[in-house]
Parts: sequence; structure tokens; C-alpha cells
Amino acid sequence: MLKNKTIILGVCGGIAVYKSVELLRLLVKAGASVHVIMTQSACQFVTPLTFQTLSGHPVHTELFNLLQEMEIGHITLADRADLFIVAPATANLVGKLAGGIADDLLTTTLMATKAPVLLVPAMNVNMYDNRIYQRNEGILREAGYHILEPDCGYLACGWEGKGKMPAPATIVEHATALLAEKDLVGETILVTAGPTREAIDPVRYISNHSSGKMGYAIARAAQQRGARVILISGPVAIPVPVGVKLVSVVTAEEMRQAVLAYLDVATVVIKAAAVADYRAAEVSGTKIKKGSDDLMTLSLIKNADILAEIGAHKEGRVVVGFAAETTDLLENARKKLLSKNLDMIVANDITEAGAGFDVETNRVRFLLPDGEVENLPLLDKSEVAQRLLDRIARMRGH
Ligand code: PMT
Repeated sequence: MLKNKTIILGVCGGIAVYKSVELLRLLVKAGASVHVIMTQSACQFVTPLTFQTLSGHPVHTELFNLLQEMEIGHITLADRADLFIVAPATANLVGKLAGGIADDLLTTTLMATKAPVLLVPAMNVNMYDNRIYQRNEGILREAGYHILEPDCGYLACGWEGKGKMPAPATIVEHATALLAEKDLVGETILVTAGPTREAIDPVRYISNHSSGKMGYAIARAAQQRGARVILISGPVAIPVPVGVKLVSVVTAEEMRQAVLAYLDVATVVIKAAAVADYRAAEVSGTKIKKGSDDLMTLSLIKNADILAEIGAHKEGRVVVGFAAETTDLLENARKKLLSKNLDMIVANDITEAGAGFDVETNRVRFLLPDGEVENLPLLDKSEVAQRLLDRIARMRGH
């Protein structure tokens, strides 16, 4: 979504500048063309050369630099931007903007732009709580600026409290959401993700290799496109997408209960979770001890098929499943599509390089009940999510 977008990254002087370097790297990695404007104070913390090297563009620092004015100029820069991010935004910058002061290149360009502006304040907690600062932030919010709340924690000045600049990945998520087309407004999308765990005893469980990356990418993209998203997730170790309601579960039965509890409000269900098909017939209350026999038999009992249950009572909602296969991909996936009464199934052959469990990419095929098959190339999971949501948006008449 940031691909080929022009972003201006304004950098003020504060210790959080070191995080702006990583932010720039992530924006460039996402395909954006980023032009950096640094204040004089920012240059005291990190040299413009660092930002120039990572952005591949000259860094702008001077309002009255004739060469820069002729080649780009602050007005041209302001006009060209799809998005303007200021990170970190200091109390000084916020105060100047709120007061309409434009006395350096950053404030002048900010005043001249018509692009959406995302301010990422970072400062000492007492400065942040200061009533004058809060008044200024209020003025900017009312004027349509987007302002991220700082994180709480240990601050570089030695104080604990609110004032930390959020992680660069979080800022990128907000930036992406600001630029996304809001074609899923009005939809409530229930996404399941990750594995389930079925206990054998207090120490051991049955599970699988799902990391949750595929399901979380879908939840994130749907939220950015304007949907309300409920993410029902098994145990994973990845951050919750911004703005998404997370419901954490462990077992298949807990996932089933959570899905059924939210089903009524869902207009779309996407089941990317890798649900355990079986659980231990008996869960031991104490650790099972090693016996003298070499062979140990564990009796398993079938879990309810959540997707089949939803498919049997669709009541107008779009229901999409995933199929993780190691053989006969299309044939097996089609059987699941039809037997579970789905509107679409996303088939992934988990033996293919770069596809399936715990990788950043996936190679999937979309299978539809009318026999249509769309073959997608190997893509980042975030891009697979976008393509899937494009399909769903069309099914929902957007
Ligand atoms: O999480 P990642 O590491 O990113 O990996 C992604 C993924 C490989 C887990 C994902 O892309 C995927 O394929 N998810 C579905 C895995 C799976 O359980 O497939 P299945 O063929 O066993 O199940 C078919 C469908 O029925 C799935 O939508 C599953 O959620 C659902 N199901 C299965 C069993 C069950 N008891 N209840 C269910 O709802």
C-alpha cells in the first residue's frame, strides 16, 4: 500500500531520532519514495548522511538553500507528498504548528502541504502532560492532523511515563492505514489465526507449526481497509495489529466457542487458523511418567470442525477457509470447499519453498465453487492478504 507513494519524513531533535532511522528503512522497504526534512536540532543527534544513504535522496535542512529551492523547493515537496510523517514530533514543533509559525524548512513545508499529516510526538512525560502542550495537540487534532499517542515506559531522560516514540513498525501500520482505500467500511470481519494447542498432561500438548503470520496479515489489512476486525488467535508470538480486537484462545474448543460468540456480528469469516483435528481423549492431571515399554499409545478424539459448522449456517455472510496440503493440493482443497459449503478456499501447498507455515511469504490458489481457480505467484503474506480482501470486497459488492 505504500508502494510508489511519496512520503515526507520530518525529523525533529530528540533522542528518539535513532528510531526514525529504522522508520525510514521500513518505509523504503515497503516501496515508498521518502524525502527527509531534518531540523537543525535533529542534525545534532544523527547526521543527514544517515538519512540520505537510506532514503537515496538528498536530505533537506535549510529553508534558504538556493540549490534545493531550484531543484525541489519546499512548496514542490509539499505538493508532491501523499503523506507527511513527523517523527519524532517535539513539543516545540507541535507548539509552532498550533500557533501557525513557519520559521524553518520543516514548519514551512508542513504549513504548505495538503497531504495528510501524521505526527508522532516523543518527549519527557512532564512536557507531554503540560497543559500548554495538550492544548496545542488539541488544536492540531481539531485541524485534522493525525496524532499518535506515545508509548509508556522508561524515558531517556530518566523518568517513567508516557512519552516514548512508538515502535517504527507501529508507525508504518498507521501510515499504511492512512493511505489505504477504505473499501471495507461497514464490514465486520472475523479472522482466525495461529495454531491450537491440545493438552496431553500439564507439560505436553499436540499442536502444529502455524505462526499466525498469515491470519494476522489478513486482520491487519482488513482493519487498514476500514473493516471492524475481530481476530481469534491461538498462541503466537507476533504483535497484535493496530486497531484490531484480539480474542486469545488455546484449544480448538475455545476457538469454536469464541467464533460462535462473535458470529452474529460478522459479515465475513476467514479461517486461517490451523486447528488441531484431534485432542487427547483423556488429559492427565499430572505429568505422565516414562514407562518401561518402548511403545506408548495415545488415544485421540476428534475436535468439532468449526468451519463446517459455520458453513452449514452462513446466513448471508461470506465464509472463506484455508487448506494446508502436502499432496493433491487442488483436489483436496476443492473437497473442503464443497463439503464445508464455503464461498472460497485458499489452498497452500506447505511443501513448496516460501509457502505455508512460519515464513513471510506464501504461494496460494483461490478456489471458488463455480470451478474458477486463481493461481497467485509467491508473494509476501501482506500482499496475499490484500488479494484475498480484493476478492472478498467484490463478493460483498464493494
Ligand atoms: O500461520 P502461518 O505460519 O502464517 O501459516 C499459515 C497457514 C499455513 C497456517 C495457513 O495459511 C493455513 O493454511 N491455514 C489452515 C491450516 C489448516 O488447518 O488447514 P486444514 O486443511 O487442516 O483445515 C481446513 C480449514 O478448516 C481451515 O480453514 C481450518 O481453519 C478449518 N478447520 C479445520 C479443522 C477444525 N477442527 N476446524 C476448522 O475450522
